[in-house]
Amino acid sequence: MREIANPDDLLHWYDRHARVMPWRVGPADRAAGVRPDPYRIWLSEVMLQQTTVATVKSYFERFTSRWPDVQALAAADDGDVMGEWAGLGYYARARNLLKCARVVANEHGGIFPDACDALLKLPGIGPYTAAAISAIAFDRAETVVDGNVERVMARLYDIHTPLPTAKPELTEVATALTPDNRPGDYAQAVMDLGATICTPKSPACGICPWHTPCRARAADTQSDLPRKLPK
Ligand code: ADE
Repeated sequence: MREIANPDDLLHWYDRHARVMPWRVGPADRAAGVRPDPYRIWLSEVMLQQTTVATVKSYFERFTSRWPDVQALAAADDGDVMGEWAGLGYYARARNLLKCARVVANEHGGIFPDACDALLKLPGIGPYTAAAISAIAFDRAETVVDGNVERVMARLYDIHTPLPTAKPELTEVATALTPDNRPGDYAQAVMDLGATICTPKSPACGICPWHTPCRARAADTQSDLPRKLPK
């Protein structure tokens, strides 16, 4: 049960179909060697922890116009930050956001660490967010596993073990598939695939770049996966 699909096929699809997000670097800039800004990737990933992409976009634009870099956010008034956060919910996230900005500004010279173990020591950064920042901002071969990625892996490998029991196995296959070539784009590509094609209901298998290797598609089990233990 190892690499059955080609990450390059997904990257090729991503080059044509990546969703446009204000923190992403577009294809033309990427080809010119422009890298994502770690501050913007961190901010977007913290906002995305419990909130949809559609809602996050406008909050992200307001935050980054007001506080364009980590030093600016570190120097912000707590009440102003909480005010801009209002509506996003989970206010502990906003408090940790400020704490994290101040640690990065004061203890790391305003430079975000690139490795997961160092990122994990920062306030508000858990395993998902550390992997996302390390992969997307620094192009390190870290594996990002969210609900979208779990669904894509459960289907690609036709894994019938229910969630959450299946989590370690899904993480293992996702890790084995993560390429050294463009791991940051790859991480975003799997999430985009799960959000736009390999959707929970009525997945668009006919236009999926992993149509051929997908074991669930071959077995026609995609609509039953991932299985979930009754709550
Ligand atoms: N959900 C959370 N982070 C994301 C990202 N970087 N791309 C797509 N979906 C996401």
